[in-house]
Amino acid sequence: MSINQTSLEEIKSRIDIEEVVSDFVSLKRKGQNLWACCPFHDEKTPSFSVAPAKGIFKCFGCGKAGDAIEFIKEIEGLTYIQAMQYLGKKYGIQIEQEEETPEELARQSLRESLFITLGFARDYFNDLLLNQPEGRSIGLSYLKERGYNEQVIKDFELGYCLDSWDGLIKQASNKGFKQETLHAAGLAIEKDGRYYDRFRGRVIFPIHNITGKVIGFGARALKSDQGAKYINSPETEVYQKSKVLYGLHQARNAIRQNDNCYLVEGYTDVLSLHLSGVPNVVSSSGTSLTEGQIKLIKRYTNNITVLFDGDSAGIKAALRGIDMILASGAHVRVVEFPEGEDPDSYSRKLGTERFLGFLKSGNSDFISYKTQLFLKEAHNDPIARVETIKEVVLSISKIPDALQRAIYIKECSNQLDVDETLLINELNKTHLKSSGGYKPVQELPPEDLFPTEKSAAQNLPNAIARQERESIRLLLNYGDHQLEEGTSLHQYFFSELENVEFKSGVYKEILDLIQSELDQYGVVDTSRLMDQASEETKKEVIDLITQRYEISNLWMDKFQIHVPKEEEILPSVVFSNLLRLKYRMVKKLIAENKEELRNAEPEEQQKLLQIDVALKDSRNQLAKQLGIIVSD
Ligand code: CTP
Ligand code: MN
Repeated sequence: MSINQTSLEEIKSRIDIEEVVSDFVSLKRKGQNLWACCPFHDEKTPSFSVAPAKGIFKCFGCGKAGDAIEFIKEIEGLTYIQAMQYLGKKYGIQIEQEEETPEELARQSLRESLFITLGFARDYFNDLLLNQPEGRSIGLSYLKERGYNEQVIKDFELGYCLDSWDGLIKQASNKGFKQETLHAAGLAIEKDGRYYDRFRGRVIFPIHNITGKVIGFGARALKSDQGAKYINSPETEVYQKSKVLYGLHQARNAIRQNDNCYLVEGYTDVLSLHLSGVPNVVSSSGTSLTEGQIKLIKRYTNNITVLFDGDSAGIKAALRGIDMILASGAHVRVVEFPEGEDPDSYSRKLGTERFLGFLKSGNSDFISYKTQLFLKEAHNDPIARVETIKEVVLSISKIPDALQRAIYIKECSNQLDVDETLLINELNKTHLKSSGGYKPVQELPPEDLFPTEKSAAQNLPNAIARQERESIRLLLNYGDHQLEEGTSLHQYFFSELENVEFKSGVYKEILDLIQSELDQYGVVDTSRLMDQASEETKKEVIDLITQRYEISNLWMDKFQIHVPKEEEILPSVVFSNLLRLKYRMVKKLIAENKEELRNAEPEEQQKLLQIDVALKDSRNQLAKQLGIIVSD
């Protein structure tokens, strides 16, 4: 399908975030922003805010943030294009499709007819299960025996197929469906030019896509002489196994509300968890988990809890798959079931209440779980302990977030009783191996989390970054404010910072983007700016333009304490920010110069000493203006 770019632009220009969000939650105005309880996580006091002027939302509780398009993507679980279609509908703008080729049209109509055929088969199987003697006596009684009630059968549209070679084909032909289409839908098999039903004498589990259309089936044997326990639809034009999760359609809202997704192995596990009051569950249905499936889950939550059957061979085999989940940035927890039990059997054994308790108390963080699992086996065997360390560090190395990696390293150093630096070295080696060019970094935890002794010089880059961040915050929020007659904050900043280069990547990028906005348009449009920014930078921009302290100002108002708004004292805020920034940068130059001096040849020393004097002179001037006392 092709999309007309200009209509996308038109929709973007019409979007009003307040209007868009109001369709889902009721917003209350407080100060410049609108507030509500967050629709993405459970809460009682509002921390979800919308800034209409900036066109963005942000939840201070769960951290979700973005523009109106992002909001629709998140809340409806849509792709970008689907979200634009949703918004197009709202604003009466059609996303015109350009001419499609005959092949594209044929393919689309094939998909359409497969959906219709599969829907017909679902109804046919379901009717057999509920209303026909064979279906009731064999299929329905089996499901009832397993404890599946009417609601679950209805929610999952379960069915039964007759034990015959052409039950479905006959019925479908009567209704005008072609046998070739049944074949293309995976419902019929072909042999020597003749067609037969694929599923015979089994209970049927329809597989849905996210929107609830049936795209395939799993069929469970009821007798021991039927061959494979499950027969599944083959891949078809509408069913690609690697991109589908069984139960996601039924689970998606619950996943979002609980902000967690349980991952199990099979159809029956999904159904049994539903029965036990755990609706946020999906299964990859027998195949090993794929990246596409993880992406699907991540549309709804960043937390995945994997439920392991209680057999140790199976668990070891599943561990690698979990590294892939870690690499996606999701948080992984695991629950291990007792030997011989799976979620289906164990939930029935314990009953709802005790089972829920088991899920709650029996889950552990994946990295700790894996560490313990390997440690248990290693006992005191040194070689096995080395293996354990390598295994655990390999998993940690997959985690994209440096801060999280640092926390895990710390944690594992305790659990494994090995030195943190040893783990960091191992981590750097792993990184090098896996990416070929990765520059090893000193992955020590940030100072405020785990205080370590550091010299002032080592702290400098951090201090500079803080001031750079503050500069960018001021630029983004008040760039066009007049500091004095005829001078905007933008102008003042850029003239003051003419020869200064920012040190941190993100702020440098934002500064460049601001500059290019000004060069091109003369004004800074934050949403246009974000369009061009990397994901990480975009997040930072949103962070910087949404400010929490508006609330506390309100509170102060209530008690009639006047706190000057930042805007009222902007010139002095900007002035001192620039002074601090320069002060930090000069200090860094002094430190660098000193280092150079230490290694310098005698003939260079004189020059470097002069530089030192000049730098210290400007540092002292800056310090004086800032009211800082310097000691050397
Ligand atoms: N599976 C499959 N083909 C098989 C066996 C299993 O496709 N021959 C898939 C199914 O999706 C199944 C999952 O693997 O749900 C897990 O297999 P298993 O644990 O054997 O089945 P259960 O779902 O536990 O089914 P039951 O409880 O009825 O034995
Ligand atoms: Mn089972």
